[in-house]
Amino acid sequence: MALLELREVAAAYGPIQILHGVSLHVDPGEVVAVIGPNGAGKSTTFKVIMGFITHLGGEIVFAGRTLVGQRPDRILGLGLGYVPQGRVVFSQMTVRENLEMGAYLERDKGKIRSAMEYVFSLFPRLGERSRQLAGSMSGGEQQMLAMGRALMMRPKMLMLDEPSLGLSPRLVDEMFDKIVEMARSGLTTMLVEQNAARALEISDRGYVLELGRNRFEGTGRDLLANPEVRRLYLGGEVRLPRG
Ligand SMILES: Nc1ncnc2c1ncn2[C@@H]1O[C@H](COP(=O)(O)OP(=O)(O)OP(=O)(O)O)[C@@H](O)[C@H]1O
Ligand SMILES: [Mg+2]
Repeated sequence: MALLELREVAAAYGPIQILHGVSLHVDPGEVVAVIGPNGAGKSTTFKVIMGFITHLGGEIVFAGRTLVGQRPDRILGLGLGYVPQGRVVFSQMTVRENLEMGAYLERDKGKIRSAMEYVFSLFPRLGERSRQLAGSMSGGEQQMLAMGRALMMRPKMLMLDEPSLGLSPRLVDEMFDKIVEMARSGLTTMLVEQNAARALEISDRGYVLELGRNRFEGTGRDLLANPEVRRLYLGGEVRLPRG
């Protein structure tokens, strides 16, 4: 059974409908990429899953429960973590305080401590800089902090919106390595990426959205090999995974 499933989801910002029937699913343990041109509705898909915007129709089921009509904090509490586009951190707070904010729904101090140890083991630099103000960290470090904050609730699944956006090539590599490392440790992941070819290379499956609708879907490998997908969304040349 899928961990997350969307069936024909429609959504709007106020009166403006953006999603016109998006369907996708993510199975436990999978990494799933969502790609598509600017304005396709990728971020909007994450926002409607998290309950931030107006849901007009369709079903959203996570871990056997409907998310439709649920509040964002309740959805977080069900084990769905979300890292929004654009390295959103509390810049006037320290790294440690940012991480504590991520666990604001958790009352058990022991659980908060062990979650923080887990985050520091995954991102040692956050541990080294735990007293530094988040706003003075580099772009890559802030992105890792945003991810670490989402991990503080020990989610079953993490949704990452453009984790590599604006990072230097070396940090992009590091970011993708971290996503693979988290996935290997069993974290189910759905990611939206401009860096579509890289995302498909590390993903089990992918979806291409366009104008608020599904356009293509398949395994990461099949999408990378699909000439139409390559021409339209991957800018021609891509490296095919070996093996
Ligand atoms: N707060 C908002 N109010 C009204 N319209 C919005 C809002 N946010 C996004 N939109 C519109 O919704 C559409 C889809 O936006 P969305 O952010 O989901 O695209 P995206 O696929 O994530 O694109 P990008 O690759 O640029 O991040 C766009 O036409 C955008 O202008
Ligand atoms: Mg977006």
